[in-house]
Amino acid sequence: MLKKSMKKLVIANLKMNLLSPAERDLYLKGIDRVTAGKKFENTEIILCPPFVHLEGFKKWKNRKVARGAQNVFWEDKGSFTGEISPKMLKNFGCDYVIVGHSERRKNIRENDQDVNLKIMAALKNGIKPILCISEDDNQKETESNAMMEQLQNCLNGISDGKIENIIICYEPAWAISSNNPDHLPTTNDVMSARLVIKKFLVANYGAKIAEKVRIIYGGSVALGNVTNICINSGMDGALIGKESLTPGNFMKIVEMIENNC
Ligand code: PGA
Repeated sequence: MLKKSMKKLVIANLKMNLLSPAERDLYLKGIDRVTAGKKFENTEIILCPPFVHLEGFKKWKNRKVARGAQNVFWEDKGSFTGEISPKMLKNFGCDYVIVGHSERRKNIRENDQDVNLKIMAALKNGIKPILCISEDDNQKETESNAMMEQLQNCLNGISDGKIENIIICYEPAWAISSNNPDHLPTTNDVMSARLVIKKFLVANYGAKIAEKVRIIYGGSVALGNVTNICINSGMDGALIGKESLTPGNFMKIVEMIENNC
């Protein structure tokens, strides 16, 4: 059995879905059904709903899954209209938060400096950031440089003692929510990206600490590709959007990862 801290991670990014309390409850019932009677020794399951559902998720009794959020602001409290603080997330049951998702970088113009502040604020409040590192179509050619730059900027000032609480998600923007099989990375693509991230970690934190940082993959993960993209590439788990909305398929992916540790 793996040590708890080194469990694989399967994270549902529910994005802007579950449009009503009724839809949310139906989804949670589905997750109850597919997790019933199951033990997860090697895998931690994390669900990241929209903010409005965090209270409902907190009250939900299922303790086999952890809770996370899809974004956070960097201040704890005060005059920041429309923002949600890390203290609020903690008080509403979140142990994780996604930061730097490519959809936010693109739609909200979130930049590496914002992401860096969010990481610091989350860590200060005992929340583990899931840092998404992405590159768009134009960057595909120079992928590793773009990734290095994002890692450097987003992790600026993060000490040796803190880095192991951060999960790094390689998330090529061109592969997100894609129905086009040509827009999926190969096992080798993902292995190369993993190597770039590892090299950064080893260079900045040393090999021993780098070993403790989990690196996962996100972008159109589905039942049919999880083996190639996430398992054969040696990734420590997956960030799943669309496929996580179907509890049955989501659980099959969890079980594939659980049984391949
Ligand atoms: P997708 O989303 O699985 O729908 O591509 C993944 C993500 O945004 O992380």
